[in-house]
Amino acid sequence: MIVAIDGPAGAGKSTVAQRLAERLGFRYLDTGAMYRALTWLAMQRAVPLAEGERLAELAAENPVVFDERGRVFIADTDVTASIRESRIDRLVPVVARHQPVRKVMRVRQRELGEAGDAVIEGRDIGTVVLPNADVKIYLVADTSTRARRRMAERPGIGADALATDLRLRDESDAAQMRSAPDAETIDTTDLEVEDVVGRIEELVRTHQPA
Ligand code: DC
Repeated sequence: MIVAIDGPAGAGKSTVAQRLAERLGFRYLDTGAMYRALTWLAMQRAVPLAEGERLAELAAENPVVFDERGRVFIADTDVTASIRESRIDRLVPVVARHQPVRKVMRVRQRELGEAGDAVIEGRDIGTVVLPNADVKIYLVADTSTRARRRMAERPGIGADALATDLRLRDESDAAQMRSAPDAETIDTTDLEVEDVVGRIEELVRTHQPA
């Protein structure tokens, strides 16, 4: 069983997807972490972020690996913490925009995703990566709530800078950000994490054979 959770930054995807995976005993796959890891490696190797083909080659040669504790590795380096830095927040949309990169990532995401029961979060999981996912969720939240959530994750960055980052990321991510026609949209603005998880869990149960 595959549960796809898509939506914009700050809509609550990671928290909800991780909690849901724990509750269901499913694997959790964070596809954003893959684009982040590639961005980190490209910067490390001084590969220009405008060169889609070169970035795609880099991605193909250096598949992202997750361990059982959820740590993220690329080119034998643990990048779990580095990929959450604000310089990566700002540059990852530039990398994720290249179609050759997306093509390589998609193959790896399918490979990782189809290895059994999984909750997979991203932007295009229900639409492009795994359109046959059993349950598709599209999470949204109003802009100020999303900015507030990002602020809690990135202490030390001013509110104005975060709001600008979020707006720029929305613009760059827009091409990928669509809800699948058969996705259930949940507005998390006024909901607790447990409420959102509970709602998705119900949907999953109705899809599971009795
Ligand atoms: O969810 P996140 O903030 O970690 O995502 C990082 C970036 O990767 C973001 O700019 C959107 C992009 N992304 C994407 O284009 N497709 C995905 N399936 C996941 C993330």
